[in-house]
Amino acid sequence: MAPRHFIDIGDIDPATLRRIVDAGHEMKRAGKVVPARLRPPGIAEAVLVMIFEKPSTRTRVSFDVAMRQLGGQTIALNHTDLQLGRGESIADTARVLSRYIDAIMIRANSHESVVELGRNATVPVINGLTDKSHPCQVIADIMTFEERKGPIAGHTIAWVGDGNNVAASWAHAASRFGFKLRIASPAQLKPERPVLDWVAAEGAEVLVTDDPAEAVAGADCVVTDTWVSMGHTDAPRRKQMLGPYAVDRDLMRKAGSNAIFMHCLPAYRGNEVSAEVIDGPQSVVFDEAENRLHAQKAILAWCLGKD
Ligand code: CP
Ligand code: NVA
Repeated sequence: MAPRHFIDIGDIDPATLRRIVDAGHEMKRAGKVVPARLRPPGIAEAVLVMIFEKPSTRTRVSFDVAMRQLGGQTIALNHTDLQLGRGESIADTARVLSRYIDAIMIRANSHESVVELGRNATVPVINGLTDKSHPCQVIADIMTFEERKGPIAGHTIAWVGDGNNVAASWAHAASRFGFKLRIASPAQLKPERPVLDWVAAEGAEVLVTDDPAEAVAGADCVVTDTWVSMGHTDAPRRKQMLGPYAVDRDLMRKAGSNAIFMHCLPAYRGNEVSAEVIDGPQSVVFDEAENRLHAQKAILAWCLGKD
């Protein structure tokens, strides 16, 4: 059987994704002691290797804790610890690791590396963020939305700021979970053409505008992210272009008092979001961070599951 990779939300069918989010809610209710029915078979003998080409707080710790709470074990490595850092091919690395361990989670500079790993691994490969997407984050975000607002289908999410990797996963999710997404970005920083072509081909309800007020009007949730992602080298230019896209109290007012605010973190108060919004009553960012743990358990359980 082909391994169950979790590389992009758009690669997975809606029913499976729904099952993963529902399992995330169940994992949260269950707490630290995961009941046997939610654990994948053979988990006590299973090892997850985690490879990092970029820093991480949430992804690293939540995957590690998630695997332990499921009953398995982990190995965390920076890519320079591996021969990969000296030029061993991704394909050979995938084949070798597949002989030792049961799943690979990788945070990579290049999305293509994760795809290549998935092509050559005989165990599941999980995308822990690339330059192009961050699917695990958006599973946790959907859980967080649903805790406050109920099933996400039919609701409206406004993304304001850089049309980056996290925005791309939101766009994939809009198609698979059936919600409306409005993305407000400056023209030069809107999501990349392949993402927009993909959502158009899928018939997803994704509106792209350069007007933050248009995006947030009547939205159930306003989301933003850092203006300078890991790997970006043009911080001054980005900050200048993104200035008008800061999420502040005035913009949240345009969304309405029932709208929630989300941010995957790390956040830079005074840039993409004001302190009064991220630390204010509409913000759910720490629930969102917590939900990474529950979402990772659900993702791991699906990847390592057989049913
Ligand atoms: N949101 C997120 O992925 O955070 P880390 O970079 O800390 O993992
Ligand atoms: N867009 C950000 C997300 C960090 C979790 C980055 O790629 O750096």
